[in-house]
Amino acid sequence: MTNSATDWTQSFFDVAESDSIDGGTTSIGPLWHAAGARWGHSMHTMCSYHGMFPARLAHYFIQTYSNPGDVVVDPFSGRGTVPLQARVEGRRTIANDLSPLAYVLSSAKANPPSWGKMMDAVGVLEKGYRAPQDDVDVSPDIRMLYHPDTLKQLVYIRSWLLSEERTTWAPQKHMIAGALAGIMHGGHRRDGSSQYLSISMPNTFSMSPRYVAKFIREKSLVPPDQDVFARIRDKLARLYLDAIEGPEGVTYSADATSLLADGVVRPGSVDLIVTSPPYLRVVNYATANWIRLWLLGVDEVGRDQGAGRKQLDGVLDHGHGYPAYQTFMQRLLSGIETSLKPTGVAAVVIGDVIEPGKERVPLAEQVWSELSAGSGLKLVQLIEDHLPVEKKVSRIWGDTKGQATDKDCVLVLARKDAEISAIDSELDWDEPYKDGGPDAAHERLQRKP
Ligand SMILES: C[S@@+](CC[C@H](N)C(=O)[O-])C[C@H]1O[C@@H](n2cnc3c(N)ncnc32)[C@H](O)[C@@H]1O
Repeated sequence: MTNSATDWTQSFFDVAESDSIDGGTTSIGPLWHAAGARWGHSMHTMCSYHGMFPARLAHYFIQTYSNPGDVVVDPFSGRGTVPLQARVEGRRTIANDLSPLAYVLSSAKANPPSWGKMMDAVGVLEKGYRAPQDDVDVSPDIRMLYHPDTLKQLVYIRSWLLSEERTTWAPQKHMIAGALAGIMHGGHRRDGSSQYLSISMPNTFSMSPRYVAKFIREKSLVPPDQDVFARIRDKLARLYLDAIEGPEGVTYSADATSLLADGVVRPGSVDLIVTSPPYLRVVNYATANWIRLWLLGVDEVGRDQGAGRKQLDGVLDHGHGYPAYQTFMQRLLSGIETSLKPTGVAAVVIGDVIEPGKERVPLAEQVWSELSAGSGLKLVQLIEDHLPVEKKVSRIWGDTKGQATDKDCVLVLARKDAEISAIDSELDWDEPYKDGGPDAAHERLQRKP
């Protein structure tokens, strides 16, 4: 980018575009900032996820670069934003993530069972519960968060989940696990009530066990006596407010680059990829989720030398320094090239990074300028996305080594031989699925004070 272009964007971004709703904007106009932060299907709220992008960003690329029936893929699907938005817009979707939590959330959203099936599944699960007389055997890290009776129910549901290999779970199991993951921890209301199961703590990510223990001591926090089955039903009622029709999606738990390059996703079959790979050490997707990962059978993720932490750090691409990151991105670009149709498009979201004591790294531009020559892909468009700093979760908590900044970039890519140019169309923000969910879910919520 030339200096003059940099100057232009800086002055441009001082004031958000007038039709931006959230104060953010991009280098080509408000785009997804033209819809409010709450835009999107009710099921997107299943579980907060560090590093997630908004549903309206997924919608923008799905509407602009795909048609109903097309194949839309997210190889780093996180909380499942792309698979859910793609399927409710009538696209076939393939999601993938190597984190057990992300895999479960993505599976639940790619293929949600009907409301009736979910109520039956929770009923059967509850019927099988017998409260044990004795205390359950869990680590102090987990024990400190929950009331003893709540913990007994959680341990029962956890062993029901773990009785089968995760990749063979029925859709109902994924949905129960996803809904439960979303209420494992979070803040209490002023009146002391809560939709969450834990002591009052942030919902967005898990602070370290040591920090939580100190927090509990200093604030004399008391865990609420929550009935887990009732809280799961309430959570499901909120998730099922909108209609869930759409083609069944497929989810994998594989290394993203292998998924695209080694034929798991059929070469030349993908119409659109919308994805956000991990950026340089900005978020550790294991530690940020240690409590939810315990539910899914991965222990000691919150501890420095913990078994679960080592296992996940060994497979996830969230700990690279720049040279290893470049190799990882090279493999990703090659996988994208292999899997795209000749007319396909990939939107790859990458944030700028600031490492302590170092210069800001415009990561997307840098990676692209270094790797484009050896790639069979071309840049259709580079969209700079400026967010109000305070809206960026990884900034709010400041718990990261490399710091995310207030600027993300989207590389819009296509195969070099493709005749594709940037599309700048007016977007339809209508949500035909809104409030079309099961009446029972609405009634249940309306009965609540
Ligand atoms: C930036 S997040 C994606 C967030 C997602 N766009 C959302 O809205 O929730 C990156 C994801 O990459 C996953 N990941 C990291 N390394 C991976 C790998 N080698 N293969 C597959 N997934 C990986 C992490 O578990 C994390 O969920």
